[in-house]
Amino acid sequence: MIANWDVKYETKISEIDSQHKKLFRLINEIESIFEDNKDHLSTKTKSLLQAVSELEDYTISHFLIEERVMELNLYPNLEAHKKQHDRFTDKILELKNRLTSDKLLENDKELNQFFTDLIRFLRLWLTNHILQEDMNYKPYIKLDL
Ligand SMILES: [Fe+2]
Repeated sequence: MIANWDVKYETKISEIDSQHKKLFRLINEIESIFEDNKDHLSTKTKSLLQAVSELEDYTISHFLIEERVMELNLYPNLEAHKKQHDRFTDKILELKNRLTSDKLLENDKELNQFFTDLIRFLRLWLTNHILQEDMNYKPYIKLDL
């Protein structure tokens, strides 16, 4: 199921909101490659890896900008928030390594399971993180970028 952007995800910080929208799009992109090629994913490894790497890169640069905004506005829970970002970045890296290292890319059935789990994890993490952690800093933000 493709997740759509909703007003409930808005922080009202325009740069952050547009980056969050892009993260939704990047997850949807992984999902649409998955949905269109469910039983022959091993023929799409290049596109899948590229989509996961793109999400990884964009997430890292988004987190840096979000952390900068929190820092500028002296957000008191910055360190805890950063830890959540770091844990997520580590997890993506770990999943990407698993994908490329253990012959997973040649096995359609395992790839299907891997991407089913990956997409569920990404979507849940992003929506929960925005609704809980990101909404917590919202009242502190007086200075935009
Ligand atoms: Fe965040």
